[in-house]
Amino acid sequence: MTAEKKQLTDSKLLNSSIFLCSFIMISLCWSSCQYANIQSITNTCDTSSVQFNKTIQPMMNNHCNSCHGGVSPSGGISLEGYNHVFTYGPAALHAMETGSMPQGAPKIDACSIALFKSWLDAGAPNN
Ligand code: HEC
Repeated sequence: MTAEKKQLTDSKLLNSSIFLCSFIMISLCWSSCQYANIQSITNTCDTSSVQFNKTIQPMMNNHCNSCHGGVSPSGGISLEGYNHVFTYGPAALHAMETGSMPQGAPKIDACSIALFKSWLDAGAPNN
């Protein structure tokens, strides 16, 4: 093998090692990020006993009732007060999960959605 040819093979080898290394690094970063996401939901999101007054109504007030409150709520859907949130609960959950609501705003965080779902699954108690 001539010196020139050998250099060429060496640099090809180097190139593919760099490629392989970057690939492995990116995969590692990605999987640890995924792991961190799952951890932050399971560690800090306590969905065991969600209360309407403490958690659900404030969530609606913060994220929804600028449009779904007052005398003429958007789409005729009020999310003010237990009876309304009870009635529209499943539709509200669906809208938050798909991200169609809150309209014109970023999707609600995963923990809030999990809290709302847990409250619904518990029979949507007025507590
Ligand atoms: C910026 C105003 C605005 C905000 C904030 C908002 N909505 Fe809406 N919402 C609307 C309008 C307008 C409609 C009726 C027209 C439509 O469906 O797009 C609507 C319709 C709905 C509907 C019925 C139709 C559907 O998409 O299912 C539900 C349920 C709903 N909203 C839930 C929510 C919930 C839950 C939140 C808070 C997480 C929220 N909305 C926040 C404006 C808003």
